[in-house]
Amino acid sequence: MVQQKATQQVRKAIIPAGGLGTRFLPATKAQPKEMLPIIDKPAIQYIVEEAVQSGIDSIIIVSGRHKRAIEDHFDKSYELEKELEERGNEEMLTIVRDISHLADIYYVRQKEPLGLGHAVLCARRFIGDEPFAVLLGDDILRSEPPCLQQMIAQYEDTGSSVVAMMEVPWDQTHKYGIAAFDEADPSRIRDLIEKPAPGQAPSNWAVVGRYVLDPAIFELLEHAKPGKAGEIQLTDSLQRLNHISPILAHRFTGKRHDVGDKLGFVKATIDFALEREDLADEIKKFLRERLF
Ligand code: UTP
Repeated sequence: MVQQKATQQVRKAIIPAGGLGTRFLPATKAQPKEMLPIIDKPAIQYIVEEAVQSGIDSIIIVSGRHKRAIEDHFDKSYELEKELEERGNEEMLTIVRDISHLADIYYVRQKEPLGLGHAVLCARRFIGDEPFAVLLGDDILRSEPPCLQQMIAQYEDTGSSVVAMMEVPWDQTHKYGIAAFDEADPSRIRDLIEKPAPGQAPSNWAVVGRYVLDPAIFELLEHAKPGKAGEIQLTDSLQRLNHISPILAHRFTGKRHDVGDKLGFVKATIDFALEREDLADEIKKFLRERLF
C-alpha cells in the first residue's frame, strides 16, 4: 500500500453522547449515561481530557435529551466558584475552574437517536473538510500515551483513517464491529462487519471507541441506510470508506472500560479507586473482607 504523510493536522473531535443509554436505565432516565461519575468525575470528562492530551483543541459534543447536564458541567459556574471562594476551599475551586478551561467545547443536538453514524453526521458542519477524531462518550481508554494521541500520530504518518481495535473473547464478537485483516499487511483492514452473528466473526478484533477519520466519511453517512437494529451504523460507512481509501487498525494495548454497561461501569469504578491514594487502602480492605 502506498502511504503518504497527512497534509492536515487533526485538531477537532466529535464526542457522540446522544444515545438513549437503555442498558443503564433507570439511572439514565433523566441524565445522560456520559454524566455518570467514575468516582468523582463524570465519564465524559475523562474522554474530553484524553482528547485534550492528544492535541485536540476544539470538541463538539453531540447530545440528545438532557443536554443541559453536559453543557453545565463544562461551563463556568459563577455561583459555585463564589461559594467555594468564600469558604476558602482553594483545592475544589481550582478543580471546578479548570473544567471550564479544558478545551473549546461546542454542542449540537441529535434530535432523534438514529445511531452512531447519524450522530457523527450531525457534526458535519463543525468539522468541515478536515480530518477529525471521534471518541465515544461512554468508552474510557487508559494508556500512556493516550490511545488517541497514538492514533493521530499513525494518521499523520500515513494519511489513512485509523480505527482503534482490541481483542475480545470470541463469544462476545456479536456485540461489536469486527475486522477482517489484509493478509499481506495486518495493519490494513479488509472488511468491517457490524455485530456479526455468533460463529460468523472473521476475527476477534473489535472496534473500540476511538477513530481518526477522513472527512470523506460524511458523504457516505449522508446516503447511509439504516443497518443493524434499524440504526445508521458508523461501521457500515467505514466499510464503504475502506473501499475508497484504506483504513488502518490501531491495535490498542491499554485498558478499556465500557462505562455504558453496568459491569463495565462497576469494574471502572473499582479500577480507578484502586489507583487513588485517598481510596485504595479502604477499597482493598473492603474487597478482602467481602470476598474472603
Ligand atoms: P451505544 O450504542 O453505546 O449507546 O453508543 P446507546 O444507544 O445509548 O446504548 P444502549 O445500548 O441504549 O445502552 C455509543 C456512543 O454513541 C452515542 C452514545 O451516546 C454513546 O456515547 N450515540 C449512540 C449517539 O450519540 N447517538 C445515537 O443515536 C446512538
